[in-house]
Amino acid sequence: MEKKYEALKQQLKQQLLTGKIRPGEKLPSIRTASERWNCSTNTAIRAYQELEKEHLVYAVQKSGYYAVLRPQAVTRTGAGQGQIDFSAASPDPEVMPYKDFQHCLNRAIELYEDQLFTYCDPQGFYSLRRELEKHLAHSQVFAQPSMICVVSGSQQALHLLSSMPFPNGKSAVLVEQPTFHGMVRTLQLLGVTTYGIGRTTAGIDLDELEQQFRSKPIKFFYTMPRFHNPLGTSYGAEEKRQIARLAERYGVFVVEDDYLADMETSAKADPLYSYDLSGHVIYVKSFSKIMLPGLRLAAVVLPPAVMETFRLHKASADSSTSVLSQAALELYLNSGMYDHHAAMVRERYRTRMDALAAACRRHLDPSIQCPAAHGGIFTTIVLPKELDAHDVIAALHQQHVSVRSTDQNYLPGLGRDNGLRLSIIQTDTDKIEQGIALMAEACRKLLQKRKQEVAWRIRPD
Ligand SMILES: Cc1ncc(COP(=O)(O)O)c(C=O)c1O
Repeated sequence: MEKKYEALKQQLKQQLLTGKIRPGEKLPSIRTASERWNCSTNTAIRAYQELEKEHLVYAVQKSGYYAVLRPQAVTRTGAGQGQIDFSAASPDPEVMPYKDFQHCLNRAIELYEDQLFTYCDPQGFYSLRRELEKHLAHSQVFAQPSMICVVSGSQQALHLLSSMPFPNGKSAVLVEQPTFHGMVRTLQLLGVTTYGIGRTTAGIDLDELEQQFRSKPIKFFYTMPRFHNPLGTSYGAEEKRQIARLAERYGVFVVEDDYLADMETSAKADPLYSYDLSGHVIYVKSFSKIMLPGLRLAAVVLPPAVMETFRLHKASADSSTSVLSQAALELYLNSGMYDHHAAMVRERYRTRMDALAAACRRHLDPSIQCPAAHGGIFTTIVLPKELDAHDVIAALHQQHVSVRSTDQNYLPGLGRDNGLRLSIIQTDTDKIEQGIALMAEACRKLLQKRKQEVAWRIRPD
C-alpha cells in the first residue's frame, strides 16, 4: 500500500511540475497541509522533505517551504530556448547539484567557521586532501595527502605545469593531435615549444611516441587517456601500460588529464597513473564536468620530484584555491552526495551518448565517419573532403543547431581532420535525434550542391 506521505508528495509534485504551484510560491504551512490533506504534521513534514530532496522545493528557516525556480525557467548560458546545442562544454544546468551543495556550504561554515575565511596551505585544505585520498583510491589512484594539490580548476594545473621547470631539465611539451583546445591555447600563450603526435579513434602509434620521447627535449606528454576531448575515445590497458613504460625509459613525464573520471562505466578501466611504477605520471582530476564548474576545483597528484616546484608556482599564482569551496567539497564527498550525484549524471550522459551514436548511424550519409566514442560527453564525426566543416556549421546555425569544428583542437601548421565535435552535455535525447536529422539534411544539400558545381565544371561547352 502506498504510504500516506508518498501520496501527498505525489499530489504536490504534480502541482509543482504542472505550474499549479508557481516557481517561488510559498507552499501551504505544515499545519495547513495536515488539515487540508487530513494527515499528521509528521506526514506533511516527510512529504515536504522528500520534495526538498528532489529539489522541487526549498526550506527557508522560520518561514516555510517554497517552490524551486525550475531550471527550465532559468535562461541557459549557452544556446537559447529552442536551440539544439552540440557545442557546450559545461554541465547541464538541469543536473547541477545546487541545493545539495548549498547545504554543504552552510554546513562547512558552521563546522570550520573562521578557518574558511583566511589564507590556507597553497597545497589545499588538509581535511579535503584527506578526503580526496579516499575518493581517488576508488579509481585506483593511490596518493597520500602530501602528494595531492588542490587547484582552481584543472586549467590552472595545465597552465602551471606548462610554465614551470621540470626535474628532467627539458622544456618542450608533446600533445596528442587533436587535443583539448584549452591546452593548445595555454601552450601558445606561454610560447612553449610544442610537438604533436597523431591520435585517432584507433589509438596512438607507440613507435612514433617512443621515437619522439627519444629524440625531442620533452618535459611532459599531455594526454587524455579516457573519453578524449574531442574524439571521445579511450586508450586500452596495453596502450596505457606502454605509455607508462616509455615515460620511465626516457625520463619523460606524463600529464594525465582525467577530466571525465566519474563518467567511467567499466570497473576495469584504470587510469594511466595506476600503471606508473616510476613516479612519472602526474594525475589531474577536474570536478567541473560532473558538478559545478564555477567552483573552480580540481585535484592534482604529483610525484615528490615535481611537488615542491608545483607548490611554489601554485602559491605564486593565487596563494590558494578558495577555502570555502574546498571545505564544502570535502563535505559533499564525505556525505555520499557526490557518489549519488555522479551515478545520476553518468547514467544520463550515457543514455545521451547512446542516442547520439544511434542517431548518427540512422541519419548520416555513409561518407561521414560516425562517432567511435563509448561514454563520456564528446565525440567527433569526420566529414568527407567534399564537405567543408565551416559550411556545415553555417548551414546548421540557420537551423538553430550549434556545433564546433575540431580546428581549434590542433596545433597551428599541423595537418587536421575535417571534423565536427559533438557534445551531448546540454542536449537531451529528443533534441539529439532532431539535431542529427537536421545535420544529415544540411550535409546532403551541401553534397548535392558540390556535385552540381563539379558537374558544371567538367561539362563540355
Ligand atoms: C579535457 C579538459 N581538460 C580540462 C578542462 C578544464 O576544466 P576545469 O574546469 O577543471 O578547469 C576541460 C574543460 O572543458 C577539458 O575539456
